[in-house]
Amino acid sequence: RIDEATIRALPKAEVHVHLEGTFALADILFLAKENGEYLPGPAATLFDITTHDAFAAPAVSTGGGAGAGAAGLSGFLRFLDWQCGLVRTPAQAARVAYAFAARQSASGVRYSDVIVNPTHWNAWRGREIALMRALSAGFDEAEQDGLCAVGIAYSLLRSQSAASAVDAVATLASARPGHVVAISVDGDEKVTGRTGEKFHEAFRLARATGFRRTVHAGESSGPDGVWDALDLLFAERIDHGVRAVEDPALLARLAADGISLGVCPRSNLTLGIYRSWDEHPLPRLLAAGVEVTLNTDDPAPLGSCLEADWAVTAEQFGFDEATMIGFAARSIEASFADDDRKAALR
Ligand code: ADE
Ligand code: ZN
Repeated sequence: RIDEATIRALPKAEVHVHLEGTFALADILFLAKENGEYLPGPAATLFDITTHDAFAAPAVSTGGGAGAGAAGLSGFLRFLDWQCGLVRTPAQAARVAYAFAARQSASGVRYSDVIVNPTHWNAWRGREIALMRALSAGFDEAEQDGLCAVGIAYSLLRSQSAASAVDAVATLASARPGHVVAISVDGDEKVTGRTGEKFHEAFRLARATGFRRTVHAGESSGPDGVWDALDLLFAERIDHGVRAVEDPALLARLAADGISLGVCPRSNLTLGIYRSWDEHPLPRLLAAGVEVTLNTDDPAPLGSCLEADWAVTAEQFGFDEATMIGFAARSIEASFADDDRKAALR
C-alpha cells in the first residue's frame, strides 16, 4: 500500500477540481455568520450539509447514488448554489481563493487548474469579471506566499443558453481577467441532454481568442457527450470521460489525439456514477492507451482529499509506486500551466 505521505511528496498538478467543491466546513460557517445566514441543518460534518433535504430534488428523486443522499449530482449542484451564494464581497472571494491554494499545497500540488462556474455564485450575477478579479487577487497573494499556483477554467453551466455562453466568452476575451486560462462546461448531463451544438459557437470563440478548452462529458451521460466535446467544442481535455469506455472507436480517437481524461474515481463512486470499484473503468481506459489524470472533483463536500483519493485508487487497482509517479508526471503535462512553469515542475 502506498501511503499518503509518499503521494503528498510527489511533484504534481491537479486539473479537475471545482473551487465550489473545496470550501472547508469552518469557511462555510464563517461565511454564513458574516452574512447572518443559517445552515439548513446541523453541521456535524460537511457531508451532512451537502445531503440535507433542503437540496433534494423538489418532486421526484433523480436517483443518484446511495453515497450522495437522495439527490445525487443535481442535489449536490443545488448545495453548491447555496454555499457559493454566501460569498458576497471581493475580500470573501479572495479568501476562498487563497484557502484553495493552501489546500492544494497541503496535498503537494504545485500547480492547479481550478474550475469556477460563476452561475453558482449568485451574488455576482452580471459581475462575473469582478468575481474573476477578486478570486485572482487571492490566487496572486497565495502564490506570493509560496503556495500552489493556479489557473482558472471559467465554466459555463450546461443548462445556460447559447447566447449567454457566447456573451460570457466574448466578455472574457475583452476583459482578460487575471488567472483565467480556459473555458469549461459542467453541470448535469442527465438533466439537459446533449449540449455540444448549443455551446459550439462559444467554444469556437474561446479557441479563436486563445483560451484553452476542457469539457465535462461522459460522467452522467454516455459516449455521445465526449464525441461532441471533441468535434463541436474543440476540447483539449475531458473532465471525467469515464463512460468513453463504452465506445471502442472513441477510445481510439482519445488515444490517437492525446486527449487526457480528468478522471475522479472517488467522486464517481460517491456520486453514484459507478456502484463499486470493480465497475470503475479506469484500468480499461489505461489499457486502451488513453491518457488519464487522477483528480478529486469536489474534495471537501465529498469528504476527501487528493492524497487519500490517490491512495485508495492505487490500493483498489493494485497500482505500484512507479505507476503513481507516472500519474504525477502526466498531471503536469496535461495541465494548462505555461511551458516555463511545466519545465520548472518536471
Ligand atoms: N460541478 C461540480 N461538480 C460537478 C460534477 N461532478 N459534475 C458536473 N458538474 C459539477
Ligand atoms: Zn467535475
